Amino acid sequence: MAKKKVKKSLSSITNDKNRNIINPKSLKPQQTRQIIRRFHVLQKNKHSIITKLQKSNTSIDLDNYDDIKQNKIYQVEFNNFKIAKKHANNEIYKIDVTLNEIELIKILAKIDSEIEQRGGIKIYQSASNQGQTNKRGGDSSKKLIEWLKTSKYETKLKEDLNALEIGCLSPYNNISTSKIFKSIIRIDLNSQDPLILQQNFMERPLPTTENEKFNLISCSLVLNFVPSHEKRGEMLIRITKFLKSPNKGKLSSLFLVLPLPCIKNSRYFDNDKLLEIMNSLGFKQNYIYEAKKVAYWLFDWNGKVSKNIKFNKKELHSGSTRNNFCITIN
Ligand SMILES: C[S@@+](CC[C@H](N)C(=O)[O-])C[C@H]1O[C@@H](n2cnc3c(N)ncnc32)[C@H](O)[C@@H]1O
Repeated sequence: MAKKKVKKSLSSITNDKNRNIINPKSLKPQQTRQIIRRFHVLQKNKHSIITKLQKSNTSIDLDNYDDIKQNKIYQVEFNNFKIAKKHANNEIYKIDVTLNEIELIKILAKIDSEIEQRGGIKIYQSASNQGQTNKRGGDSSKKLIEWLKTSKYETKLKEDLNALEIGCLSPYNNISTSKIFKSIIRIDLNSQDPLILQQNFMERPLPTTENEKFNLISCSLVLNFVPSHEKRGEMLIRITKFLKSPNKGKLSSLFLVLPLPCIKNSRYFDNDKLLEIMNSLGFKQNYIYEAKKVAYWLFDWNGKVSKNIKFNKKELHSGSTRNNFCITIN
């Protein structure tokens, strides 16, 4: 008798409690995008709640997250929360001034519970990694290597070069396999490989010598993960502190990747605004490429960061279907 084929379920259940945890390897591109988007929304909501609580006179010690987790209201909400089976039915939170401390804590608990039930940052990273497979267009650093191999960079590549990859999911991407860099430091908030250092770039100790700085920094699909416009600005400023001085034609560059809607469909942001910010930080755009879903830039740094830079959040484009992505510097 012919063996009956067992059809594998798309969602491989990992344990009883977390019934909706899915295995990103078995996901279709649209489903990986849903996971990635949902994580971004949850991160952003979480950040807004914590900022609101910080501004309130709460007795909770917000620097100690365990203190929040000990809160009885938090615990009840966390344990009772069940995630929606379909993404279309996901909770939509409106974090506004009308919410009091208890309501904010309840939403925070639901968000944390959803993140945990969805498998935490690991699932988000696997979904991002899955989107990077060659079958789905390859990893973004392919573009960087293509650009670095052009005649513009020929002389600069003759020296021993090092690179810092912020938000690294794989130590086997094109940055690593190109052999352009003699050494590469790879960091991520949640390391998935022994070759990736688990570190928050915003907490990485500042370099004290030129040797501790980098010829190239890759910041691919990381800025959009940073939950607030102020913090994104801080990240860009911080990047300048880690770049080698561009003296004597040395390579000192930033590879930046953002989802295309950040510059094409934001109420507060576009490519002109990005270039204004980058120019004030000493970056000159050398290459830009807009793919279907993401935009890539290669900036060269001239080492001159303007003083008293100020970029506020201002509406640039109206329309109800726009997103709120923005980068500010104060
Ligand atoms: C969407 S993934 C992008 C990964 C990869 N660079 C790419 O282009 O596909 C974003 C990654 O950035 C990491 N990340 C976000 N903020 C970070 C920070 N402050 N320091 C280090 N890693 C960070 C996250 O942990 C996540 O793994």
